[in-house]
Amino acid sequence: MTSNILKSSGKQALLIDGKVASASVLERVALEAGSLGVKPGLAVVLVGEDPASQVYVKSKGKAAHSCGFHSVQHDLPVTTTEAELIDLVRRLNDDPAIHGILVQLPLPAGIDTQKVLLTVAPEKDVDGFHPINVGLLATGAIKRALVPCTPAGAMLLIEEATKFLHRDLAGAEAVIVGRSNIVGKPMAQLLLAKNATVTIAHSRTRDLPSVARRADILVAAVGRPEMIRGDWIKPGALVIDVGINRIPAEGLTASGQKKTRLVGDVALDEALAVAGAITPVPGGVGPMTIALLMANTLRAARLAQVL
Ligand code: GUN
Repeated sequence: MTSNILKSSGKQALLIDGKVASASVLERVALEAGSLGVKPGLAVVLVGEDPASQVYVKSKGKAAHSCGFHSVQHDLPVTTTEAELIDLVRRLNDDPAIHGILVQLPLPAGIDTQKVLLTVAPEKDVDGFHPINVGLLATGAIKRALVPCTPAGAMLLIEEATKFLHRDLAGAEAVIVGRSNIVGKPMAQLLLAKNATVTIAHSRTRDLPSVARRADILVAAVGRPEMIRGDWIKPGALVIDVGINRIPAEGLTASGQKKTRLVGDVALDEALAVAGAITPVPGGVGPMTIALLMANTLRAARLAQVL
């Protein structure tokens, strides 16, 4: 990453600009895709009409186009059966123009998500959810694994911020709040691979605030709005907020709807007075997820060239 992504917040903590960081990743991906000799192909599968998923899928397609990829979207009705979805995934596995397959989650009730994810060919699994990729990451074979996009993007921000602050990841105390398969666990593996001392805390952790206060690097991935308060943060810590929570806001929109706003898992205002650097919500980790999806698709396309 070439551009400086750390900015003054006017308070104690620096702000980490995920939009600038993601633009820099996308620029590199587009450049490298142009000289690959084959168009990286990404297929995104959306089942049903969940409005949030529709927004995510649309922005994934847009990013793929902006990188010069071959991009296809399969919109399936909510009545799609598990067998029909698995059949589509198998056809995409066999399609040589497709290098990356993403099945948008959550899937409608009645479809076994794990079964569908197991059907995705590991070398096309740009989400990094297949047990083969999970296992490669867990055994330290990171260079061969396709790594889940959100923790991979968060890790890039951590590496940039650590460098900028003249700190060392090796030996640092990293605390991750949240143990999901999509963020918490892979995040732990990535930090471990860089020799951090890693703790995964969760809802059953005893005295969570004091565990969080140990962290030189605190990653919040619990999905609870503003749960992590200023006094949970060690002064000068690097704080990575993975949460995206929509909460009610004051007033009404032009069309008379109740206003809402996005907040993270960290109480940003309080954290800005204590942390060394922090990712804001929105505009922190969020934009990195899509950029890393494009980077994963490029990697999958490159791997397909040598297989
Ligand atoms: N739904 C919310 N986040 C994700 C993601 O990272 N991948 C997929 N496939 N679905 C999601």
